[in-house]
Amino acid sequence: MSNADDKRGGLWGARFDGGPGDALRWIGDSLIFDERLAEHDLIGCIAHVRMLGAQGIIPKGDARKIGAELKRMLREVIKGELRPIDDDDEDVHGWIERVLTERVGEAGARLHTARSRNDQVATAFRLYLRSETQLVLGEIDELQDALVDQAENVRGVVVPAYTHLQRGQPVLLGHHLLAYAEMLERDRGRFGDQLRRMDECPLGSGAATGVPYPVDRDGVAEELGFARPTANSMDTVADRDFAAEWLSAAAILSVHLSRLAEDVCLWASSEWRLLRLGDEVSTGSSIMPQKRNPDGAELVRGKTGRVVGHLTALLTTMKGLPLTYNRDLQEDKEGVFDTIDTLLDTLPMMTATLAYSTFDADAAARLLEGGHLLATELADFLVGKGVPFRHAHEAVGDVIRRCEERGLDLSQLDESDLIALHPRFEGCAGALDFRAAVDRRDHVGGTASKRVAQQIRRWRRRLAKRLA
Ligand code: ARG
Repeated sequence: MSNADDKRGGLWGARFDGGPGDALRWIGDSLIFDERLAEHDLIGCIAHVRMLGAQGIIPKGDARKIGAELKRMLREVIKGELRPIDDDDEDVHGWIERVLTERVGEAGARLHTARSRNDQVATAFRLYLRSETQLVLGEIDELQDALVDQAENVRGVVVPAYTHLQRGQPVLLGHHLLAYAEMLERDRGRFGDQLRRMDECPLGSGAATGVPYPVDRDGVAEELGFARPTANSMDTVADRDFAAEWLSAAAILSVHLSRLAEDVCLWASSEWRLLRLGDEVSTGSSIMPQKRNPDGAELVRGKTGRVVGHLTALLTTMKGLPLTYNRDLQEDKEGVFDTIDTLLDTLPMMTATLAYSTFDADAAARLLEGGHLLATELADFLVGKGVPFRHAHEAVGDVIRRCEERGLDLSQLDESDLIALHPRFEGCAGALDFRAAVDRRDHVGGTASKRVAQQIRRWRRRLAKRLA
């Protein structure tokens, strides 16, 4: 359809003399992006028309004919043989109906009985999100698996744990890596919660108030794999909180990926030199031949901005919309589509970064040499001798002050040096060992080698089930 007049008698019917003007078509046509919903809109159409026939709302013969053709279209769409490449229908729903009617003739005109694009789009969007989310969850599993692999590779490697980006206490590098596995697990849970809340079928809500036909909403919901039909037609066509909730899960996930990316950038920096990025996940410089840059991780960090932006955009679009459907709601899709594309880039990028890079145990040992990392340990040693913690803190603070005056790190002092400063340090040699300090944190959630090994085993069991 190239001529606007051809729209007459189209989706909007006879009261329109011509189609919309150019400005409205430019701003309003969504086929270019909502084409992505074709597969899921067709699935919704198939369930709808089967119900129309079964309930005697349209002639059974027509329902069968329409159903058969919709299934053929679905197969063609999945194979990529049917796409609205040069078609200029307003949206994917209009496109499907037009192609169907061109193929089956008059019967096609019955498909839109007892339905509106408002409940139709709410259904297709949910079906689409439900299936795409599975891809995201699969990528989360892969990243968790890569984190566990690295945690296993670096078994026994101790590094500083930082607070305020200052070296604080010794910790197993594996413990640090597994912290991200936990964050990703909660991200996974947030998507799961969202999917459960979204598990209601909009079809049957019509434009806003329901439909005056004996529809079988339970049957359609069941056929489409929803737990039940939605409970209020106005809510159904007006709200997009399911998309906002999904975007918020995606935004939090992206923030987690961004923090991991930032850690990677620090670890790979000339200052840390803890992580050597593989060729697969680093880039050189066009001018500085020595460079090995973490572009992939930087892009993951950078793309977080757009995902957070999409969440903000949708919330802003929704705020202030009167019930029920308003065309503003068409703005709900592109941000979600872009977020899915983004996550399917950023998650594999972080997985590859971990899989193709190696931690350097010598660099880890060098990092332990500064920062007086065992200061807390020494204070805890005094506590073990009955000194109240505040006083112990004071005594060790004094030791650190002297170290700093002499340009020494606490790790360069031995027991006799310490006893010379304060007799109560007698017997403290055991507190001056990084590995021993780590292993003393032997409780659930602590960094003791035994506990980290337990975490690794737990993750292995959990992921083996999921990745099987
Ligand atoms: N393309 C539209 C959207 O995404 C479909 C629903 C149109 N409904 C309407 N009343 N104009 O929201």
